[in-house]
Amino acid sequence: MDSHLILKIIHMTFGSLALIAFLIRAVMLFWDPQNQPGKVTRIVLVAMQHLSFTVLIITGIVLLYQNQFVVQPWFYGKIILFVVILSATIKAFGKRDMSLSQRKAGVFVAGIAFAGLLTLVIWKPDFSANQTQQQGIQQPNTSQQNQLSSMAVRPSATTQPAQ
Ligand code: HEM
Repeated sequence: MDSHLILKIIHMTFGSLALIAFLIRAVMLFWDPQNQPGKVTRIVLVAMQHLSFTVLIITGIVLLYQNQFVVQPWFYGKIILFVVILSATIKAFGKRDMSLSQRKAGVFVAGIAFAGLLTLVIWKPDFSANQTQQQGIQQPNTSQQNQLSSMAVRPSATTQPAQ
């Protein structure tokens, strides 16, 4: 297995771990806000979140480096949503004195951002194709593509005949 695939698997595993830790804490906050998890459970969940976000950022940067920082336009949306998830998660579960409704709002915003990020990585919208359609430029269909490739200029056809 090549290093890119291994990194991608680690990246996706810790993405799932971040989602699981978030869902557990969100359900606990909404289900029984007065009865929050004990010290050990809290430490485990916080460690899970910190570790998964850290690994996601490190593996994400290495994957970007391996891809020579070439990204699709939707990737910028992914990074914005990731920053929203981080800040809303801090608001929802941070140590600062927050009211319950503020914490619930944080969970709500982080949940929407998580759903948006997952939609982007699964769907991978191709904005460049839409742009071509808007400009009225038609993409050739398969038979046209075959015709075009058969019409390709051979290098020998462009060379000057020997005098
Ligand atoms: C909660 C946060 C994140 C989740 C759930 C997540 C999830 C994923 C998933 C599922 C893929 C695989 C997509 C596919 O190829 O089908 C992926 C790819 C990728 N992610 Fe993330 N990601 C997160 C954060 C980040 C961050 C913060 C960065 C950058 C610093 C990043 C950089 C990348 C890159 C570069 C790839 C492309 C790998 C490739 O196909 O060559 N991700 N991510």
